[in-house]
This record gives sequence, C-alpha cells and structure tokens, in this order.
Amino acid sequence: MLNIALPKGRLGDQVYELLDSVGYACRDIYLDNRQLVFKNAETGVRYFLVKPSDVAIYVEHGAADVGIVGKDILLESGADVYELLDLGLGRCRVCVAGPQGYREEPERRLRVATKFVNIAKGYYASINREIEIIKLNGSIELAPILGLSDVIVDIVESGKTLQENNLQVLTEIVPISARFIANKAAYKFKESEIATMLDKLSAKIILKNN
Ligand code: PRP
Repeated sequence: MLNIALPKGRLGDQVYELLDSVGYACRDIYLDNRQLVFKNAETGVRYFLVKPSDVAIYVEHGAADVGIVGKDILLESGADVYELLDLGLGRCRVCVAGPQGYREEPERRLRVATKFVNIAKGYYASINREIEIIKLNGSIELAPILGLSDVIVDIVESGKTLQENNLQVLTEIVPISARFIANKAAYKFKESEIATMLDKLSAKIILKNN
C-alpha cells in the first residue's frame, strides 16, 4: 500500500482528481467528515490529509511514502526528499513586492516581511543585499502598508491581493507549481509502486499538455 500525503484545500482537491483519473481513487475522501486518513485496498492507496506546509515533513520522515507539495514549501523547508515530477498545478510565483512607486534606498538595510524566510535570505544573499527579516505567518501585504517593513517576499498568483492593497511586484524570485515527491527510503523499498504512479502521472500530464 502506498501512503500519500495530500495537501488539504484547493490544491489538494485538484491533485486528488488527478490521482483519481489515473487509477488511485478513494471515494471516501468526498465524505463530509473530519477524518484525516482514507484508504482504498483495491487501488492500494492510503491518503493522509495534511496541512500544505507540512507535506514535505511527513514525506521526509517516512510517515508518508509520497506527497504533493508546492515548490515554495519545498524550497523553504529544504526537505531531503526526491522531487520526481512537476504536476503543473497551483502555478504562481514567489516575488518581492512593495508599495506602488517604491524606490529602494541602497545604503539602508532593507526590512523584508515574509513567511518564506529561507527563500528571502537566499535571494538577498545572492544579490549581496543586507536585510532584516520580519517573519510573519499570513496577511503579509499588511507589513509595508503599516510601515512594519519596506518590502515583502510572498506568493503572487493573480496579483489581486497586491493590487487591492496598492502594492506591486518589484522582482520575481522563482516560479512555483506543485511537485510530486517521494521519501528516499520508500523510493527503494516501494520502487515499483512509486514508479507506476510516477509513470501514470507523467503520461496524464503529457496528454494534458498536448
Ligand atoms: C496567498 C499569498 C497572497 C495571496 C496571493 O495568501 O500570501 O496573500 O495568496 O494571491 P493573489 O495574487 O491571487 O491575490 P493566502 O491566501 O495563502 O493567505 P495568507 O495571508 O495566509 O498567506
């Protein structure tokens, strides 16, 4: 049986539909209850519904054999897992954003609000810019509005949140999409099951893109 960490929420719904369409159905997942584990002996899968930001942790520690996670979370966590496939779902980008008309003062240390501390540190180190990180957990866009930070490093999908808060993209750091990942030991011990799932997902994605 393959244990799959599935992110709760909109991305998880899309990912489940994709897995269902290639033979890994588990209809009970649609039951409107608070259950977190769903299995289907016939298709050989057990799904765990986890917080999106925790998927890589479950997979890295082997609590799940495989999982689906946003590249942003993968980069931020630095989890030691195999990244096997780009599923092309949940496309967005991690950007630096600031107030409309923002002009940076290069001689001052830049105050950066973000929940992506490692991505932000890595990006600014790569351009040799000294920064102070202000770690937030959500509603990051508020920080420059209230003068808590100069800029933010955050996910931009439609750009609506920035627009409605008079902010704009200053730099795109990295494009993001959902990735199919595997635990390193499971990749050996459950090689054929994981390879079969990977092949089916790859074939479906190629078909979708053509
Ligand atoms: C994310 C992100 C932005 C928003 C971007 O927030 O942090 O706030 O989505 O989407 P948009 O470009 O389509 O407007 P999320 O909904 O995850 O909530 P958060 O405030 O907890 O980060």
